[in-house]
Parts: sequence; structure tokens; C-alpha cells
Amino acid sequence: MNKKICVIGAGPSGITAAKNLLDAGMSVTVYDQGSEVGGNWVYTESEGHSSVFETTHIISSKTLSEYEDFPMPADYPDYPSHKHLAAYFQAYAKHFNLYPHIQFHTKVLKCTRMSEGHWEVTISANDTEQTQLFDALVVCNGHHWNPRMPTYPGQFSGRFMHSHGVKRFSDFTNQRVLVIGGGNSACDVAVESSRVAASVDLSWRRGYWVAPKFIMGKPADVFSEKINWMPQWLWQRVSATSLRIRNGRNTLYGLPEPEGPIGFHHPTINEDLFYTIRHGKIKPRPDIARLEGNTVFFKDGSQGDYDTIVACTGYIISHPFFEKSFIDYSEGEVKLWLKMFHPDIDNLYFIGLFQPLGCIWPGSELQSKLMAKELSGQWKRPANILELCEQELRQPDFRQINTPRHTITVDYHKFRKRLLKQLGRKQ
Ligand SMILES: Cc1cc2nc3c(=O)[nH]c(=O)nc-3n(C[C@H](O)[C@H](O)[C@H](O)COP(=O)(O)OP(=O)(O)OC[C@H]3O[C@@H](n4cnc5c(N)ncnc54)[C@H](O)[C@@H]3O)c2cc1C
Ligand SMILES: NC(=O)c1ccc[n+]([C@@H]2O[C@H](COP(=O)([O-])OP(=O)(O)OC[C@H]3O[C@@H](n4cnc5c(N)ncnc54)[C@H](OP(=O)(O)O)[C@@H]3O)[C@@H](O)[C@H]2O)c1
Repeated sequence: MNKKICVIGAGPSGITAAKNLLDAGMSVTVYDQGSEVGGNWVYTESEGHSSVFETTHIISSKTLSEYEDFPMPADYPDYPSHKHLAAYFQAYAKHFNLYPHIQFHTKVLKCTRMSEGHWEVTISANDTEQTQLFDALVVCNGHHWNPRMPTYPGQFSGRFMHSHGVKRFSDFTNQRVLVIGGGNSACDVAVESSRVAASVDLSWRRGYWVAPKFIMGKPADVFSEKINWMPQWLWQRVSATSLRIRNGRNTLYGLPEPEGPIGFHHPTINEDLFYTIRHGKIKPRPDIARLEGNTVFFKDGSQGDYDTIVACTGYIISHPFFEKSFIDYSEGEVKLWLKMFHPDIDNLYFIGLFQPLGCIWPGSELQSKLMAKELSGQWKRPANILELCEQELRQPDFRQINTPRHTITVDYHKFRKRLLKQLGRKQ
């Protein structure tokens, strides 16, 4: 008992990891390079870890986005803002007395597993490097902070930025803006910048399903949960039909049709995209062929002139404190059982390294409870863990397009069920 555990990150995943480890009697040290609890939800004016912008509200609704141990305040709206969320995570940390265990302004530089199994963790704080030894390492450094930039033939002479750097939309006032991507960042950035920009074009390299935030007056994920008992094929058809009734076909808006059923890509949820396109404030464009000066040439032969390009092209999964030869999940398969257990190393845990069709931190909370059970000797991992890792890769919850953002997808409800089963609980 009283094992020494290192947690990297005090975001939504790191704080629930710390809380559950402390409940199990562990000695916990959390390192965070930032100055407050909340990770991605700690909005900063200048570019840092957080990828939220001034107007970000979550896309998973309040009901399905709370820790089971700490409900969201009753007066929060269905889709809280980044400010509400930062306050919620900070209230969680206060309530469970986590602050004394967190060292802020402390960056983890290197983690090495010693031959006898301990973790040697090198940190940097106040321009000084130090090394500490731990019995186990818990990685909660997030996976939405290292921008993936696209490259194109030619050169653009205007501003070419990533959505990670978007903070205030007043920066786009009177600009001709091109937004690249069909995910949530792209749709949010296109809609928000269209309020102030001279023009906004939106370039998609394929078609996507875009779901509204509300269906029949209910948050989309709450509505979807009600029909979650259906077999997947039926759930996909019912969901697709309800979207068709609500929005009609993408082609009505000048956008390409989705290439597969709902779930073939990470969900894009935006209430205003279609409305804004039909008000002439966003112009759809296909994929980019090449750049020249301020002109962008598209694959259908059309072209446009822009002051700013915002690449909303997602993030690279990064663990810069590990040797790349040891762990590198930046491309391809992520071989972890329940997205948390390494096949060979029994004192290394990843919490929050999954992309649900739904909210991340309730899953992080259950992962943390399972980790705490194992470390306190109340649960034993199966002996065939490598086989389970491979099975999880062979049988994903959704068959998705093979693009870099789709390597860690889980279905929110099925993933919870799998974790609850290991915890010996029913949903
Ligand atoms: C714009 C945007 C909106 C989103 N909306 C939703 C949503 O609606 N619902 C949802 O579920 N998810 C959403 N996400 C996903 C988001 O990743 C999660 O909400 C959540 O922040 C994940 O929590 P985390 O603790 O795993 O990671 P993070 O929140 O990224 O926290 C990681 C923490 O680790 C620290 N850290 C990282 N590296 C180091 C290091 N080397 N040393 C020390 N500290 C380190 C960071 O400072 C940070 O505090 C959104 C993401 C973005 C970008
Ligand atoms: N309001 C919110 O709550 C909110 C807002 C923003 C983001 N988020 C969350 O943050 C996470 C990241 O979202 P994101 O939208 O930033 O990234 P993302 O989900 O990874 O989407 C990236 C988009 O860019 C496209 N893309 C990637 N490389 C490209 C290239 N070279 N050329 C053209 N297109 C390219 C992708 O296409 P493919 O489909 O081909 O992969 C995809 O459409 C997600 O979990 C998301 O839900 C939430």
C-alpha cells in the first residue's frame, strides 16, 4: 500500500485519476505544466496547451458530461461554455482536496522505466531539472494540443494558421477566410468567423454527417441514448433518417454527401452550419489542389483569394516524454486494452486516451477507478492482455475511414459497459 504514483496532467482525466488513486490510499504527485486545473478547458489569450476559443461550448451535453462522483451544477445550461467547465473541474479538485497533490508550472520532460520496474521521471520547474522515482506512471497529457498541419504544393502569402491558435474571432474582422476541415473545430471556426469576416469559405475533402445540438428539444446525445438499445445498423439508420428530416441532404447546401453511415467519422455537431451557409455567409469548397500567392486552387478547378487560411485539421497524439522507440502513438494503431493497459508494462496507465462518440471524462473516471483497484490489489488484470489488445483493435465499436484522427475511437456507452463490467458493476 501507499505506492508512489506519478500522474502527468491536471486536466479532466488527470484530476479523476488523482482522486481515485488517493481514495485507494496511494501517495499521488500530479505534475502540470500549466497554472490551473482543467487542461484544455483553461482558456488562454495566447497559444498554449488549450485548444478552446473564446466562444467554445461543449458538444457533449451536460447530462452525459459529468463525473458520477461529482454532478454538474443544476443551473448549468445543456451545453456549458469553456468557463463553466473550467469552474467545474476546479470545483472537483477543491471538493476532493486535490490541490495539495498538484505541482503546477512543472513540465514532465522524460519518463524512463528502470530495469527493476520503477519509473524515473524528469521534471522541469523554475528552470531547474529534477528526477523523481515512482512505483507507477499515469499518463493524462491529453490528445488535442499538438496541431496536425496539412501541406500543399505551392506557397501561400497570407496568414496560414491552425485552429489551435484561434483565440478571438475579432482577429478575422474584414478578412477573407478559408477554413479547412469537416470536424467540430472547422464548423465552429467557420460559423464564428462568419459573424465578422468579409467572407468565409469552408473546404471539405469528403462529406460528413453534421448533427444538430438538439433533436426534438433534447440534447442530441440524450436523444441518441434513448435509441441506444437498437442494434448498431438500425441505430445508424434511425439517426440518419432523423438527420435527413431535420437538414435534408448535404448537396442542398453545396456540400458533399457523407461517404458512409453515421459513426464512420468522429461526429460533427453544429447547430448553425447549414443555417449560415444558406444565409450566404459560408461558401462550401472542395479539397485544395495548390496554393499561389493569396490564391487557393481547389480540386474542382475553382479558385479563391484569401487573407487567412485556418487549418482545422486535428491533432497528433503525442507523448514527448517517452523515447519514440518505446511509445509512439502518433500514427496507426494504439495497442492498449480498454485504451489504458499496456500489453507488456504493468505499471503504466493511459487515462483519457480515447475518442468517444460522446464525452471523454466520464470514461476517464471509470478507467481511473479500475486503475486504482488494480494498484490497491482489488482487481487483477487478465493474463491474456496482449490477445485482448489485439481483439480490441480487430473489433472496434465503429468501422471508420482510415484517417489519422480515427485510431482511438470508442462508443461512449459500449466503452462504459466494458469498464463497468471489469469494475463488477451494472450500468
Ligand atoms: C475545442 C475543443 C472542444 C472539445 N470539446 C469536447 C467536448 O465537448 N466533450 C468532450 O468530451 N471532449 C471535448 N474535447 C476533447 C478534450 O480533449 C477533452 O474535453 C478533455 O480536455 C480531455 O481531458 P484530458 O485531461 O485527457 O486532457 P487535457 O484537457 O488536454 O489535459 C491535459 C493536461 O496535461 C498537461 N500536460 C500535458 N503535457 C504535459 C507535460 N509534459 N508535463 C506536465 N503537464 C503536461 C496539460 O497542461 C493539461 O493540463 C474538446 C477538445 C477541443 C480541442
Ligand atoms: N465545440 C466543441 O466542443 C468542439 C470544438 C472543436 C473541437 N472539438 C473536439 O476536439 C477534437 C478535435 O476536433 P478537430 O475538429 O479539431 O479535429 P478532427 O476531429 O481531427 O477533424 C479534422 C478534420 O480535418 C480534416 N483533415 C485532416 N487533415 C486534412 C488534410 N490534410 N486536408 C484536408 N482535410 C484534412 C479531417 O478529415 P478526415 O475526415 O478525412 O479525417 C477532419 O475533417 C474532437 O474531439 C472534437 O470533437 C470540440
